[in-house]
Amino acid sequence: MAILPILQYPDERLHKVAKKVESITAATRKLVSDMAETMYAAPGIGMAATQIDVHQRIIVIDVSEAHDALLVLINPELIASSGESKCEEGCLSVPGIYDKVERAERVTVSALNAKGEKFTLEAEGLLAVCVQHEMDHLQGKVFVEHLSHLKQVRIRNKLKKRLRETM
Ligand code: NI
Repeated sequence: MAILPILQYPDERLHKVAKKVESITAATRKLVSDMAETMYAAPGIGMAATQIDVHQRIIVIDVSEAHDALLVLINPELIASSGESKCEEGCLSVPGIYDKVERAERVTVSALNAKGEKFTLEAEGLLAVCVQHEMDHLQGKVFVEHLSHLKQVRIRNKLKKRLRETM
């Protein structure tokens, strides 16, 4: 396993649209385990392959307190959504920035697990927020892009300034 570097907003590569995984191979499973290790090490509760510059429809999530409930979603498709919720979000690609984003309260998603078996996930609360956040990444969308234009400009300037200071 390996910890992979995470792309940092506003990196343009975060806006690439991920492609469907055509076949789940040993390389896919290696990628999934590296993504999980990277997410746990960060630490984070979710990660899309986009964030490590791999543009395939793969997500890992673990919202459990004990970090022992890893969810792998390959080729996730949204089947249903309902309700509204507004929850504070953060992102491993946008460190130190947290803001409220409007999402559906409940979602139903179908996906393949790391063995290639199809399953359906019914999620609500934090898990539903996380699933929607990660599925956005696969479409090339970062959570801050749900915020006002003014907030996005401020966030970009703040992160660019921080990047300059660490160089
Ligand atoms: Ni994120």
